[in-house]
Amino acid sequence: MNLRLQFNTQGLDWAEAARVFSATLAPRAPDLLQRAFEASSVTAFAFDGRRVVGMGRALDDGVFQAAIYDLCLLPEYQGQGQGAALLSGLLERIHGRTVLLYAVPGKEGFYERFGFRVMQTAMGRFENPARMERLGYLRSTL
Ligand SMILES: CC(C)(COP(=O)(O)OP(=O)(O)OC[C@H]1O[C@@H](n2cnc3c(N)ncnc32)[C@H](O)[C@@H]1OP(=O)(O)O)[C@@H](O)C(=O)NCCC(=O)NCCS
Repeated sequence: MNLRLQFNTQGLDWAEAARVFSATLAPRAPDLLQRAFEASSVTAFAFDGRRVVGMGRALDDGVFQAAIYDLCLLPEYQGQGQGAALLSGLLERIHGRTVLLYAVPGKEGFYERFGFRVMQTAMGRFENPARMERLGYLRSTL
């Protein structure tokens, strides 16, 4: 099945989008999800009919640097090339020459197919580092 892709936030049902996000990545309040996506340079949404079933976004300075966040697809649509279509759509619309992201542990291989490489010195400052460490995103030492 081919999902319809949309690359703007027009007509989004943010409550539905928040349900998709919460079912795949982490709990999100609809109004905060809307603010984050509307403030992003590039957005992508996947629809099954009128229902949003996946999304992703990027912050892009338009020249040098960009970062991808929040790529997710409901489980029943995974494994059919739809996540790759969402990511390709984002990458096509990003102008920054360097594109960063941090993968959910176990998803690194998905991004490697698009040329992403594991970084030796990437660092992040997180709101809840203990949680991120527990989830497998952080090492406690170098
Ligand atoms: C990550 C995600 C968007 C991938 O979408 P998907 O639709 O399942 O992936 P696709 O079917 O498009 O996969 C594309 C290719 O990547 C491969 N792939 C998918 N997941 C992989 C993984 N974890 N490791 C290695 N390869 C993977 C697929 O086998 C496929 O290969 P092929 O082209 O040779 O057939 C989806 O699994 C998801 O939403 N997961 C939950 C949220 C999440 O973890 N998001 C990641 C945030 S960093």
